[in-house]
Amino acid sequence: MRAVRKVPAPGAYAGRTAIVTGGGSGIGAALGSALVSAGATVVLADLDGEAAATVAAGLGPGSARGVAVDVTDAAAVQALVDEVVAEHGRLDLIFNNAGISLIGETQDLTLTQWDRIIDINIRGVVHGVAAAYPVMIRQGGGHIVNTASMGGLMAAGLLTSYVMTKHAVVGLSLALRSEAAAYGVGVTAICPAAVNTPILDKGQFGAVRGRDYFLKGQGIRKPVDPDALAARTLAAVAGGEALVVEPVQARMAYRLQRWLPAVTQKASIRFIAKQRKLAARTR
Ligand SMILES: NC(=O)c1ccc[n+]([C@@H]2O[C@H](COP(=O)([O-])OP(=O)(O)OC[C@H]3O[C@@H](n4cnc5c(N)ncnc54)[C@H](O)[C@@H]3O)[C@@H](O)[C@H]2O)c1
Repeated sequence: MRAVRKVPAPGAYAGRTAIVTGGGSGIGAALGSALVSAGATVVLADLDGEAAATVAAGLGPGSARGVAVDVTDAAAVQALVDEVVAEHGRLDLIFNNAGISLIGETQDLTLTQWDRIIDINIRGVVHGVAAAYPVMIRQGGGHIVNTASMGGLMAAGLLTSYVMTKHAVVGLSLALRSEAAAYGVGVTAICPAAVNTPILDKGQFGAVRGRDYFLKGQGIRKPVDPDALAARTLAAVAGGEALVVEPVQARMAYRLQRWLPAVTQKASIRFIAKQRKLAARTR
């Protein structure tokens, strides 16, 4: 959790090949841009293939391309990894970043919603690891970066299914990190608080819009800039860090939770009560 702020030097990732899932938007698009600026060749994979292709086109021909891949489809993720390895001879980095959020009271969630978030946020990451890790072992190195969330370290309110999936991603990443070290394969989990991406606009709690829920509700005035997070992530990869926790308030909250869990739980109960009141008032 060191605070490395340096943007990787141009050329720092020259000759390296990377896959970024969820690369058609937000954090994935920012990671793609940071990787290309640092000299890597990048494949942006997204359910929305057109969005991935548009982002890739903006990053410069030859350095990036966009493909339509659904991370819930294990065979499709395997085919993507096989294709990149066949083309470039290796895969240096995979960013298992595609994900969705789901705000709401747990009793209101349908099993279909549970399945969908588990499929994308957990199985999507598992599929990336299952396809890329053996390649990295064979080639004697590589780095796996999994996008979790602050919700993977702390139990944010009214996001139970999301929190569960992101805790799974943190657990997978930290356990694999110890196992992978002997093969020269690094593993990092990204755990940001709110980041300024379209995901913030996708949820709703009662009549409270997602952006208000994630930002105003939690007293966050300025969400993390995705480009700054991407630069920070590449620095963390270079430094072999386990977790990227951003911004500084998130690191402080995480520390408080480990030292005084009863305090953060009380705060969480208060936060939920406030959100329920707001949702009822604006309905
Ligand atoms: N923005 C935040 O506040 C925030 C905070 C913490 C963690 N995260 C995590 O960051 C990751 C990226 O989110 P973002 O904020 O950039 O959101 P975003 O909505 O801008 O981007 C997510 C991308 O994932 C893609 N995607 C969704 N389902 C997919 C699937 N089945 N297969 C392939 N692609 C799929 C979407 O099409 C979209 O392009 C997610 O895992 C999210 O949980 C976001």
